[in-house]
Amino acid sequence: MTGKRYLVTGGAGFIGSHVVEEVLARGLPATVLDNFSTGTRANLESFQGDLEVVEGSVTDPAAVSKAMQDVKAVIHLAALPSVTRSVEAPLESNECNVTGTVTVLDAARKAGARVVYAGSSSAYGDQDDVPAKSEALRESPLSPYAASKLAGELYCRSFAVVYDLPVVVTRFFNVFGPRQVPDSPYSGVIAAFCYAVLNNKSPRIDGDGLQSRDFTYVADVVKGVLLGADSDVRGCHTVNIACGVSNTLQDLLRILKEHAGSDVEPTYAPPRTGDVRHSLADVSAAKQLLGFESDVTFEEGLRETYDWYRSVLCP
Ligand code: UD1
Repeated sequence: MTGKRYLVTGGAGFIGSHVVEEVLARGLPATVLDNFSTGTRANLESFQGDLEVVEGSVTDPAAVSKAMQDVKAVIHLAALPSVTRSVEAPLESNECNVTGTVTVLDAARKAGARVVYAGSSSAYGDQDDVPAKSEALRESPLSPYAASKLAGELYCRSFAVVYDLPVVVTRFFNVFGPRQVPDSPYSGVIAAFCYAVLNNKSPRIDGDGLQSRDFTYVADVVKGVLLGADSDVRGCHTVNIACGVSNTLQDLLRILKEHAGSDVEPTYAPPRTGDVRHSLADVSAAKQLLGFESDVTFEEGLRETYDWYRSVLCP
């Protein structure tokens, strides 16, 4: 491996821009590949350092190969998120999440770059009587989104076998934090709830609100993916990157309202198709492989996130 740059696909998006910010803060060179479909140039505007931006899609081999110049590690985050969106348009999720991943892996193995792939906790689906989900469990994708992210993982495994490409698959658990889009029909629940509370509107709970998630603050995810990018492990390894604590949506709303000093009451809608009931990670494999440990509690992350939305939405 001769390159020195960190390529972040989806680097202008929510998680990607935090990864790029940290790479640059460490004085290292970063390249962003983004088609700006959901990411924005504004997310990158204030960054200082050696940053190259390539506008293009991960499904375009020419754009991917242009972005792959002088790259030592690819952090492949570009994807179409949202379970709901994938239920509405499964082919679009497949194109971006699966074809895009194969395109990135193919360019990475030609360039001799190692890969960190953003896997998803959705791969586990519902697992009866399993309190914390660990990587050895049989996957059970409940939505086209989950299937597409898991298909990307399978390609990672096959590229490690066939081409000796080193890959760390980091399975993310409901990532939240500043810069997550709060006002889209596909927004993550914490972003959507912060937006509602700040606008004094009712947060909408889909289902009974007793479904639970291992909400993970974005700084922990940045830490996890960079540990993967800087590791020297060979082959393909899959590890959960998460906080390791679960909260229900009812917990989330209560803690958020306390912090915001808000008395908004939720409205209720039917549960979503493809929704997972409970999600909690066993993070011991990430600790063992990468030395990963979460630094930010759910409550701290939630306060940071709400305060950030307040600063940009109600300046
Ligand atoms: C899933 C994955 C997550 C991935 C994300 C990408 C699981 C367990 N998690 O997240 O790792 O990053 O897809 O899109 O599969 N909800 C409301 N009101 C709202 C918004 C959401 O009640 O306004 C509910 C949803 O029905 C769901 C929960 O909140 O039960 C979380 O939803 P969301 O934030 O969209 O993420 P997941 O679908 O859990």
